[in-house]
Amino acid sequence: MNAAGPKVLLGVAGGIAAYKSAELLRRLTETGHSVRVLPTASALNFVGAATFEALSGQPVNVGVFSDVPSVQHVKLGQEADLVVVAPATADLLARAVQGRADDLLTGSLLTARCPVLFAPAMHTEMWEHPATRDNVALLRSRGVVVLEPASGRLTGKDTGPGRLPDPAEIAEFARLLLERPDALPRDLEGRRVVVSAGGTREPLDPVRYLGNRSSGRQGYALARVAAQRGARVTLVAGHTADLADPAAVDVVRVGSALEMRDAMHTAVADADAVVMAAAVADFRPVSLAAHKIKKSGNEPEPVRLTTNPDILVELVGARKPGRLVVGFAAETGDEHTDALEFGRQKLARKGCDLLVVNAVGEGRAFEVPDNAGWLLGADGGETELANGSKALLASRVWDAVAERL
Ligand code: C5P
Repeated sequence: MNAAGPKVLLGVAGGIAAYKSAELLRRLTETGHSVRVLPTASALNFVGAATFEALSGQPVNVGVFSDVPSVQHVKLGQEADLVVVAPATADLLARAVQGRADDLLTGSLLTARCPVLFAPAMHTEMWEHPATRDNVALLRSRGVVVLEPASGRLTGKDTGPGRLPDPAEIAEFARLLLERPDALPRDLEGRRVVVSAGGTREPLDPVRYLGNRSSGRQGYALARVAAQRGARVTLVAGHTADLADPAAVDVVRVGSALEMRDAMHTAVADADAVVMAAAVADFRPVSLAAHKIKKSGNEPEPVRLTTNPDILVELVGARKPGRLVVGFAAETGDEHTDALEFGRQKLARKGCDLLVVNAVGEGRAFEVPDNAGWLLGADGGETELANGSKALLASRVWDAVAERL
């Protein structure tokens, strides 16, 4: 890898979502990637070359006859650590399938030997057309990662699958493929999975609640990675940081632990795997005041708490044969017992099939993009999860799930 950060080629094809590639470019450069932008001629109808040059700090060329002495159409691909094409139009996918080399982007796709990530964006009809379906299948069979698009509003009044995933999400997958090129196999195709994420909020009165600092990032990463490995995913999300909805995932929003419990029991009905990554409050106020609790001159009333149900334990108890249940444990360890040992005890107590143990505290795991820990199996298996992105940890969890399903 390059000393100035990984070398990324950012291909931009000519669709309206090309305007979002500028945001993706900014995210990639800000996180230390050296990015060379390769727009197609039609992409420049949507975004000017000056925008890409200013944001990347590198020249922008389209055709194979630009800067001929340095043999750009061969060199750029050969030297890249990752190629990201966002947006990838139906036409670009078709040209990539055919191995065309009529511009700098397609030429570079032929010479690249690094991971290649396509983020398609097009109208639903184009995405669902047999020609595009076949092209996507063929590209995937060659080891290219072709993301599932998001659903939602397209240009005009149309809605449906075909939206470009959020630039933050594409950037997360770019980092993941640099960390682990084989992180997104399509091994969950035909599977249904449910993931919980974020923290619950336990209401005290109409305006106040007891909450926690969970960002939801790990659960979102689990949902994103599962969807791109082919699963049908429901994400039950409590309160989170400002995170984009994952592409190709059904999101159910909840507030309190009791709401999360109901949503989980409903969502898991036909699930093959369920992952409880949410930070569920252990306690809730015994009563919910009907009106905002007023300040009075007296001492405040103590808040009486009662215990919330343990959703993970309930899901284990209600599990159908063949369904895998995965829990999370954030542990600090104490003077007698380390985090891993606490994790082993928790796995036994909760009865789940897999438990991810995170060592937390001192800025680790909470509200940060990285994570590390151990993956413990009820079969006695223990795998260390090296430090890396939360998407990387998610990919290791889905490896273990896919292996056991
Ligand atoms: O007991 P502890 O809270 O450490 O357990 C963590 C695991 O249990 C996580 O998977 C969390 O989502 C789940 N949990 C739950 N319901 C609770 C508390 C935790 O499902 N009330």
